[in-house]
Amino acid sequence: MKILAIETSCDDTCIAIVQASPRRGSKVPRFHVLSNIVSSQTKIHRKYGGIVPSLAKRAHQENLVPVLEKALGEAKVLSNHESRVMNQESQSRVKSIRKILEREPELLEQFIKITIQTPKPKIDLIAVTHGPGLEPALWAGINFARALSYWWGIPLLGVDHMEGHIAANFLPQQKASKISNSKFLISKPAFPAICLAVSGGHTQLILVKDILKYKLLGETVDDAAGEGFDKVARMLGLGFPGGPEIAKIAKDGNPKAFDFPRPMLHSKDYSFSFSGLKTAVLYAIYKLMGSDPVKTGVRPLIVTKKQKKDIAASFQQAAIDVLIAKTIKAAKEYKVKTIMLAGGVAANQELRKQLGEVVEKKLQYTIYKIPHTSLATDNAAMIAAAAYFHRDKATLTRWKTLKANGNLKIG
Ligand code: KG4
Ligand code: ZN
Repeated sequence: MKILAIETSCDDTCIAIVQASPRRGSKVPRFHVLSNIVSSQTKIHRKYGGIVPSLAKRAHQENLVPVLEKALGEAKVLSNHESRVMNQESQSRVKSIRKILEREPELLEQFIKITIQTPKPKIDLIAVTHGPGLEPALWAGINFARALSYWWGIPLLGVDHMEGHIAANFLPQQKASKISNSKFLISKPAFPAICLAVSGGHTQLILVKDILKYKLLGETVDDAAGEGFDKVARMLGLGFPGGPEIAKIAKDGNPKAFDFPRPMLHSKDYSFSFSGLKTAVLYAIYKLMGSDPVKTGVRPLIVTKKQKKDIAASFQQAAIDVLIAKTIKAAKEYKVKTIMLAGGVAANQELRKQLGEVVEKKLQYTIYKIPHTSLATDNAAMIAAAAYFHRDKATLTRWKTLKANGNLKIG
């Protein structure tokens, strides 16, 4: 079956088309990514140092139709008929489209101009992220998906964004040359599994008892791991998003130069906390600058390049130490057969490498799965993969009721 998926929970406008072919003896099918388009809004949000929801929504409205055209074109799922001829019936259906997209004015104009002329593609199911995320951004994708489902008569389904991140582990993985450990290549996960899901909005340890059977073991009590990377990057005057920037300069830094705290490392539960670590970094910067933030307020950053690299490496290592320790503890307690990484921070090479090394050393018989780096950060192929497992819930009338839920929670 072919799934068209839409993801607009944050600042990337993503549409993918994924083919799923059942595999004998496995609940996980063979996924073939036919197209996976990500239109980044980084340039828009960079100057604010974070994501502005209203700007994200507007950019999604502008980008969705061009991204769809690209995704359909690359996946070659359009039949070769000429454009549809408008008759009276389609005129009345356009009226319904206007109603569905009444809150998405930018999108409506483009939809009317282009999508209505596009022949129905060879797609079996439309999936869209319905939460968690920024509600105004989510709504742009949801209303677009509703309009497409209605117009083309293709069943629709809402997907949990975090379930999508987990499902990225079931999509095709990195080429052998890019990775050192052959365990990364085993494509069939065994259950139960533990997934460390680390993104800009979430830090969660999820027990995946089986396909679709999740239990949230613990999560952050304050900042998410990715948020920590973004905030520390801002303190160091680096760009947005901060994760890749920190990772880049940390390569030349000394991870032992600063003895930052490892919050909740020894707590008995599976909670995380990154706010104290962030504050420790801030105070280390002030100390280097020789000023007391309480007395002098924020001053322009005047630390050397070497100090910046050392701070980045030491911060990154402190975060990684906590993430790995809790993941291994949970893996042992629940005797899992697979450890998986998910979310934007899973693109971090040091985290991927170090967790792999610890799994190899301490849990030799455990499968270690990491998503392809390009599928760790937000994308729609992962939403299509998660949708496959929920395919029975897709209906032709779901467009009437599907809503955004910014606080949707897994497990
Ligand atoms: O999953 P994601 O793309 O979006 C959310 O659902 O939040 O995750 C984005 C987060 C950002 O905080 C970003 O800084 C972080 O993932 N990130 C990284 C790396 N690449 C992205 N953090 C550390 N190292 C990276 N290489
Ligand atoms: Zn995400």
